[in-house]
Order: sequence, then C-alpha cells, then structure tokens
Amino acid sequence: MKLNIAVLPGDGIGPEIIEQAMRVVKLVSAKFNHELSYEYALVGASAIDKTGNPYPEETHQLCLKSDAVLFGAIGDPKYDNDPKAKVRPEQGLLEMRKRLGLFANIRPLVTFPSLIDKSPLKRELIEGADFVCLRELTGGLYFGKPQGRSEDGKTAYDTCVYSTYEIERILKLGFEMARSRRKKLTLVDKANVLASSRLWRETAQAMAPSYPDIQLEYMFVDNAAMQIIQWPKHFDVIVTENLFGDILSDESSVISGSLGVLPSASVGLETSLFEPIHGSYPQAAGKNIANPVAALLSAAMMFENAFNLVEEAKIIRLAVEKSIELGFVCEDISKQKKAYSTSEVGDWVCDFIAKS
Ligand code: IPM
Ligand code: MN
Repeated sequence: MKLNIAVLPGDGIGPEIIEQAMRVVKLVSAKFNHELSYEYALVGASAIDKTGNPYPEETHQLCLKSDAVLFGAIGDPKYDNDPKAKVRPEQGLLEMRKRLGLFANIRPLVTFPSLIDKSPLKRELIEGADFVCLRELTGGLYFGKPQGRSEDGKTAYDTCVYSTYEIERILKLGFEMARSRRKKLTLVDKANVLASSRLWRETAQAMAPSYPDIQLEYMFVDNAAMQIIQWPKHFDVIVTENLFGDILSDESSVISGSLGVLPSASVGLETSLFEPIHGSYPQAAGKNIANPVAALLSAAMMFENAFNLVEEAKIIRLAVEKSIELGFVCEDISKQKKAYSTSEVGDWVCDFIAKS
C-alpha cells in the first residue's frame, strides 16, 4: 500500500520524539511491504522563527496532499507571558485544525499494568478503566466570532458557536465509536446554562433513535469532571465540545500515570493528524530524555485510523507495551535509577519490531 505522510515535528521535544516515531514508521512500512513516502515541514515557533508564520502555506499544501500528518508538538515559553505578542505558535495549531477541517480529536485512555502505581488514583479505580474522549475541535469558544475587546479595552469576549451540522458529524462518530466498543455514549455539556449545549442535547436526542443499540446518557461537565476521577470505569465514549474536551481530556490523561504515553488522532475532512498529547515540554528539549512512547503510539494510531492497517498498529503497540513492562523507559516513568534516553527507547522498540 502507498503511505503518503507529512511529518511536522514542531517545537521543543517534538523533533526528538518524532525522529523515533519515524524510525518506527519506516521500519514497519518496510516490514509489511508498504511504499512509504514522506516529507517534513515547519509548524509552530520554529516556523515563526524561519518564516514569520506559525503555519506556512507550504506546510498547509503538504498536509493537503498527504493521507496523514504526523505531528510533534508546538509551543515555546518565549511567547507565553507576552499577552501582546502578535503571532503565537498556538495560532499555527488552530489554523491547521480549521483549514484541514480536523473536527474530531480522539484521545483514548491508555493504561499499562506496570504503570498503575504512577497514577494518583487508586489501583482499583483504574484497573479495567477504558474510555475514549472525543473532543470537537473546530468550533465553540476557540473559533466563535465575535472574539476580542471593546474599544476602551476594558471588556473582552469570546463566543461559543455551534451549528447542527457540526454537532451531528461528531456525534455520528461518537455513536459509531460506541457501537464498536461497549455501546455507551456520554454527552458532556452544560445544558442547564448554555444555549449551545442545549442544541447539542437536542441534536443527540434526534439522532438517538437511529442508534437503538447505544445507551446515550447526558452529563453536566462539572459532574463529569468529578466522575472521571471518582469512577473512570463508568465511561466508554465521552463526546463533548471543544473547550470542555480540552479540559476533560487533560484531566483524563493523569489516570494513566504519565502524559508521556498518550497518543491522539484528529480526524479531518482533508486529512487526519496524529500527535502525542503532551505538548512541547521545552525544559527537556534537546536533552534526549523525553518519552517517545506517546509519539510511537500516535504512529500506531496513524496506521490503524488513516490506513486501516491493524497488524502494523498492533506490532508497534506490542513493542511499546513490552518496553514498558521490561523497564526500557525514560525517566518520567522509570522505576529504576537508570532511566533510558529517548533514542535508547527508540532503539529498543525498533529492535523488538525487527525481531518479531
Ligand atoms: C491541546 C492544546 C491546545 C488546545 C492549545 C495549545 C491551543 O492544549 O491540543 O489540547 O487548547 O487545543
Ligand atoms: Mn489542551
């Protein structure tokens, strides 16, 4: 099969972890006789530094003609505390989501038995927890107009806008995902306060009869934030709007024990994008200590979601699981004195895949 991917390492630890992910992508492609073609492009702070634009047109064109985008991270602290900065790395990410139509962000909760002690939650709460957070990614407060300041600068506003078609397309994905899993869909909203949330509920209610096998429940976001920590096993598929999803998916990520192991996929109209959820972790950049596992699992998601190549995804997951089980891991999840470096973990995983 022809695999045509765009590689966007981005900022901070992005280049290091994507380097390991690409080693694995090349290896797995060769092993399964796929014809891999790939091209690198700039995004984020590194793109601003070189071109003045966090999402250059060239990068966009490359993404458009690719079947999948493998993305590292963006963000640089030099922009964080300057509220007047004209251009920010994050704008590149938002523009990319909008222009590629990446409307659904899928974040599975991944737990590894050997990492359970790293989680702040009790073992009995986590064991068997298995849910997916499905976050709407191109609407809501992130993109709604008007957004800005009054003339005197003393009032600021953001607008939460959703139309039925945006809600329908992500709910459809949610229902279908629930169907392939444990058949439960939880719509998280704030319908007791927000008009946009009421449209979400109304839309879900209208769609529910077409999915009689799916148990649909509604939960207010404040309650959901509590339930995720108190009883994570309650959930199968959580579907929610952009900002709620941003917050709840970060909250969910602590359950697994480390941010460094969690992948995500963003399903799009033009292409799909795969990225670790941990961000650019600038303190670790260039030190060869960042955990590449989230990037490796994002590559696995790419094989499975973008190309429907299940065996390829499986072997990557198996290699990663083994590396964690046997302690060939970076410092964030290491239990031994000696932690392995980013590239050593990559070496181990590649070696395992090559031998199996
Ligand atoms: C994420 C990030 C982004 C978001 C930021 C960097 C704009 O937190 O991907 O979750 O809020 O969506
Ligand atoms: Mn976030």
